[in-house]
Amino acid sequence: MTLLQVMADGAAADVRLRTDNPAEIETELAGRGIRFDRWPAQPGRTATASAAEILDAYGDRISALNAGGRYRVIDVARLHPDDQDPGWAATAKAARDTFRSEHRHAEDEVRFFAAGRGCFYLHLPGEVVAVVCEEGDLLSVPAATRHWFDMGERPDFVAIRFFEQQGGWIGDFTGDPIATRFPTLDELVAA
Ligand SMILES: [Fe+2]
Repeated sequence: MTLLQVMADGAAADVRLRTDNPAEIETELAGRGIRFDRWPAQPGRTATASAAEILDAYGDRISALNAGGRYRVIDVARLHPDDQDPGWAATAKAARDTFRSEHRHAEDEVRFFAAGRGCFYLHLPGEVVAVVCEEGDLLSVPAATRHWFDMGERPDFVAIRFFEQQGGWIGDFTGDPIATRFPTLDELVAA
């Protein structure tokens, strides 16, 4: 379920809006200068598809988004639970912790979820806007916007990433522990 939850930045319990209506989510985010779009899911392009298959399946949409040649690197990031791997839990935790601290980037952070889910938290003036993205969701976190990302206790997602520069994913961490005061992806979805 794609979900938007807007909270006061000084009090997570002060929930100002919670909606799973895609049109309302798009409108609310657009009003804040944040691009959100939904692309029709491609049948069969599930978690088992290869990166090349996923990029091919969404090729027309990717080409349209990148018509101006803005994005020089377009790739696929993914994580899936593997309980056969004794190191999985540590790998998942390390991946999760990396981006669950507030940071910002020099370029827009553009992600399309081909499968699974994850939550972006945008720290805007006076509020934190949490967006749980699922299959078919495209979100662009504007450059220099404070934010963090939670992939949950059992990370499971396939996301297409669009970068203007090599290393565009590198974060400038603010050191603000604000992420610890807000509900996790799993808590948001279960609420
Ligand atoms: Fe980021």
